[in-house]
Amino acid sequence: MKSRSYIALIAGATLAFASAALAQQPIVIKFSHVVALDTPKGKAAEYFKKLAEERTKGRVKVEVYPNSTLYKDGEEMEALQLGSVQMLAPSVAKFGPLGVREFEVFDLPYIFDDFSELHKVTDGPVGKKLFQKLETKGIVGLAYWDNGFKDFSANKPIKVPADYKGMKMRIQSSKVLGDEIKALGAIPQVMAFSEVYQALQTGVVDGTENPPSNFYTQKMNEVQKYLAMTDHGVIEYAVIANKKFWDGLPADIRTTLEGAMKDATKYANDIAKKENDDALEAVKKAGKTQIITLIPDEKNQMKKALFAVHKENESRVGKDILAEVYKEVDFKQQ
Ligand code: LMR
Repeated sequence: MKSRSYIALIAGATLAFASAALAQQPIVIKFSHVVALDTPKGKAAEYFKKLAEERTKGRVKVEVYPNSTLYKDGEEMEALQLGSVQMLAPSVAKFGPLGVREFEVFDLPYIFDDFSELHKVTDGPVGKKLFQKLETKGIVGLAYWDNGFKDFSANKPIKVPADYKGMKMRIQSSKVLGDEIKALGAIPQVMAFSEVYQALQTGVVDGTENPPSNFYTQKMNEVQKYLAMTDHGVIEYAVIANKKFWDGLPADIRTTLEGAMKDATKYANDIAKKENDDALEAVKKAGKTQIITLIPDEKNQMKKALFAVHKENESRVGKDILAEVYKEVDFKQQ
């Protein structure tokens, strides 16, 4: 056999082998988030991993990086847009810096009374509209995952707005939350979630707001003497992917992943309330934080002070979006 055709044969065989080997390589999804494993989002991300890997029979590998181990707040959105990571599930309070301020409608104090009102928005036209606004940022919205209702914490008893005066309060990167804290006469401090425990421990900030699951799993109960059950807002997540990556997936794989995401979303929203109730019990059991239950008059004073934030941010979140949400949840300002 002439040497040239022999070489061509070897080259052809090598190429075929290499591309077969490449085709065998699993598609890797790096999924980064900032909370502990033992939380609604921590568990739901692991569950998505399990379903995605099982149902694609290993053609997809999901690497979950919890607790800001890969990217922390302020880094993860850019990493997603660059394609350094393929999936995130940030709080809806963290889209302002991306230029999609409308997501801050979720941050308006006391806009939702319960999960069913929240779902009218996340599962309805507003939820879809907000996801569409991400497309131009190279991001695709996949689902909304619940965590829970936020409560304020501090090292002094906090019952009415006057108790918050002059306190430095850690918040997520949301202007609406900044106005919420100012409406209480306190000082907002935007800070990455991974830095909150230390900031509370050293007194860089005096207090913060969290659902019990984040409060407990970040050990904030060790550095906060009081937790006031204000339920004044929600932590809700938007599960998002890099659009180029997602659109570039083989169609069968994308369909399977969409199914896995749908089931992981049901799981996330089914466990959210219990995860927070259990965390609150754990805080009580640990005995380092006093739980404050507000009497109706105290809660009304909080609502009265915080409702001003709605009007202030009407144009920021979009009058149309706000009107639609008010209608969906039959919002009445007391
Ligand atoms: C926070 O920064 O307080 C939360 O968004 C963290 C999280 O992802 O629940």
